Amino acid sequence: MAASGFQAEASKAATLEKGGYILVVEGSISMANDGVYCCVGGKSSYDLVMEAAANSAAVIAVGNCAAFGGVAKAAPNPTQAVGVDSVVLDKPVLNIPGCPVNTVNLVAAIVHYLSFNSLPETDDLKRPLFAFGHLIHDNCERRGHFAAGEFVREWGDEGHRNGWCLYKMGCKGPITYHNCPAVRFNDGLNWPVAAGHPCIGCSQPDFWDMPTYEPVTLQDYTPPNTYTEIKTDESKFTAEGAAISGGTVGVIVGAAGAFAYTLMTNRVKNLAPDSDPQQREVVIVQDSEEPKDEH
Ligand code: SF4
Ligand code: F3S
Repeated sequence: MAASGFQAEASKAATLEKGGYILVVEGSISMANDGVYCCVGGKSSYDLVMEAAANSAAVIAVGNCAAFGGVAKAAPNPTQAVGVDSVVLDKPVLNIPGCPVNTVNLVAAIVHYLSFNSLPETDDLKRPLFAFGHLIHDNCERRGHFAAGEFVREWGDEGHRNGWCLYKMGCKGPITYHNCPAVRFNDGLNWPVAAGHPCIGCSQPDFWDMPTYEPVTLQDYTPPNTYTEIKTDESKFTAEGAAISGGTVGVIVGAAGAFAYTLMTNRVKNLAPDSDPQQREVVIVQDSEEPKDEH
């Protein structure tokens, strides 16, 4: 708000009395010892948010702290920090996590409410699907390098300078839902992975407890229909790739073959990035069939 001090408090009090507003909350709620670890003007964060939520129409928790507890909730969570929806139970709460939050998504959520008089559709973590409906990994401009087995292995190495995939440097893109690759930050200027740093999963619960530079376990995933084009030897279509265009079930050795075939099939399983793409073994299956052991 433009005002400060007494005028700011008066403006806030008038709004709370009027009611029907969207309450936007930043920061986690500290629950230990009656909330003494987070006080503003002599009131705990718990008391402040409960007071402000009482007459609101809806609540938007902004940033990972307000949504999931964030850094304050990291183990061992000495202040017993929680997200807003752990204490505000009688109002619709929308979580827009991120560290920092992307203001584009905040504005979009508010405009949605003003347009439709309701909060946008969400996932099971109360995050709007328009912003958190897809994995970063599936929209990442480096995804083609992942498919080709081209990984950064050391800060400043050739792969890093060439913009290769950051999976081996701990990128959490394969387990993180956020629209960073599309919306970016700073008026669309850039986002972490494009700047050369792995995604640290800042829109996921408990991301501060994840080991930042350890690769995540890939369970299963569905590749997008197309990948970002890359200019490398590994990306070329090979005889192996052409040979499987009929949809035969089999095992193809070599990332180039896998890359070609994933453009034609729906599902790939057991695609495990290895140090040498030429040594990588990929089991490719059609939708109706299970992976086979034969090589
Ligand atoms: Fe992009 Fe990270 Fe996925 Fe690599 S692992 S394609 S850098 S999101
Ligand atoms: Fe956060 Fe990863 Fe996006 S660290 S800002 S979710 S790229």
